[in-house]
Parts: sequence; structure tokens; C-alpha cells
Amino acid sequence: MYNPARTAEHINRIDKRRSDLQSQVAGLFLPSTQLVCEFGCGHGHFLAAYASAHPESQCVGLDISRERIERADRKRDRAKLANLRFVHADAGDFLGALPAGTTFSEIYILFPDPWPKRRHHKNRLMQPDFLENITRRAGEGARLYFRTDYEPYFREVELLLGAHPSWQLLAGPWPFEQVTVFQSRAPHHFSLAASRRV
Ligand SMILES: C[S@@+](CC[C@H](N)C(=O)[O-])C[C@H]1O[C@@H](n2cnc3c(N)ncnc32)[C@H](O)[C@@H]1O
Repeated sequence: MYNPARTAEHINRIDKRRSDLQSQVAGLFLPSTQLVCEFGCGHGHFLAAYASAHPESQCVGLDISRERIERADRKRDRAKLANLRFVHADAGDFLGALPAGTTFSEIYILFPDPWPKRRHHKNRLMQPDFLENITRRAGEGARLYFRTDYEPYFREVELLLGAHPSWQLLAGPWPFEQVTVFQSRAPHHFSLAASRRV
């Protein structure tokens, strides 16, 4: 049954979480920084290796699982990677919390949850609305890298990006590779890269 007090409490909790995230994200990097961003970074294997190989890049990985972000943070601290931050956040909340002027130079989405059942497709990370949100943050010439072991999801994202006026699919191998936890368990995978049109 509708309970106005509980609804108000719930909305206040969400507002507080979003404003805390905004303060956290604002403190991570200088304003107007170009970021290398991984959505759903899990334990941070990929981005820790990337940040170590690219000390000039500012890298941020985020994941909705607190436990995975805690592990990723320990990895970052052990490797003393000053150019790498991990954030415990939902991808949509994170995009909403980024300071104006912060853009992405590279975006990685590696083995996102496939949600194979049709009625669960709405839970997939890579959807038209999400793509619009990252497109707004993608700087000129930005690259988007997507990889999954679930072919139907791959084909859908390939169509989505291929038809999008702001993105151009690229051929060829990725410039940087690091096997992720889910990649190491998958018998095969499908990859695409796209470039933000000027
Ligand atoms: C299948 S795992 C892949 C992890 C890692 N990328 C890898 O390849 O090993 C998907 C990850 O996405 C995270 N995730 C799912 N939905 C998310 C969301 N809305 N925002 C942020 N992270 C999300 C999950 O917590 C999980 O860690």
C-alpha cells in the first residue's frame, strides 16, 4: 500500500546517494580532464594493467558491486597507480555525477551482464539511452571498446553503434589487451571498436 512517509524517505536516500557520489567524483580528477573509463570494471584487472601501461592517462573504473570495487582498490594501492581511481556506483548515476566539462577519450565495456531472457533485456547496460549519455561525454575522436561472449548481445550493439550518426565502427585489433576475469572463463568472445565522429 502507498505510504507517503516511506516514499519520501526512499527519495531522500536516493538524492543523498547521488549528491555523495557527485562530491566523490568531483574530487577524483581536475575539472575538464579527459578520462579513460571502464563501466562494470569488476575486480579492475583490465584497468589496472591499462593504467600501468599508460601513466599519462587518467583512468576511472566503476562497478555497482561494492565488494568488487574494494578488491579493485586494493589492486590499485598495491601497484601504486596514482592515475587510477575506482568508484562504487551504478553506471547511470556515475554519468549523472560527472562534472560538466569532463569527457571520455576511451570507454571500455567488457563482458557486461548479458541478460539473455527477452524480458530482462531492459537491464542490459548498453541500451540506446545509455549510448546517448556516453556519446554526450565522448570527446572528439574518442574510442569505444565493447566485448562480450554472448553473440546476440554483440550483434545488437554492433547494429546500434553502426546505425548511430556519432559513431563509426573500426576494423582491426584493439591497441591494448588484457584478459579480464570473465574473459578468462569464456570459450570465445566478440569485440568491436568505434570512433566518435568529429
Ligand atoms: C560479467 S561482470 C564483468 C566484469 C569485468 N568487466 C570482467 O570482464 O571480468 C559484469 C560487471 O558489471 C557490473 N555491473 C552490472 N550492472 C552495472 C551497472 N548498472 N553499473 C555499474 N556496474 C554494473 C557487475 O557488478 C559486474 O561486476
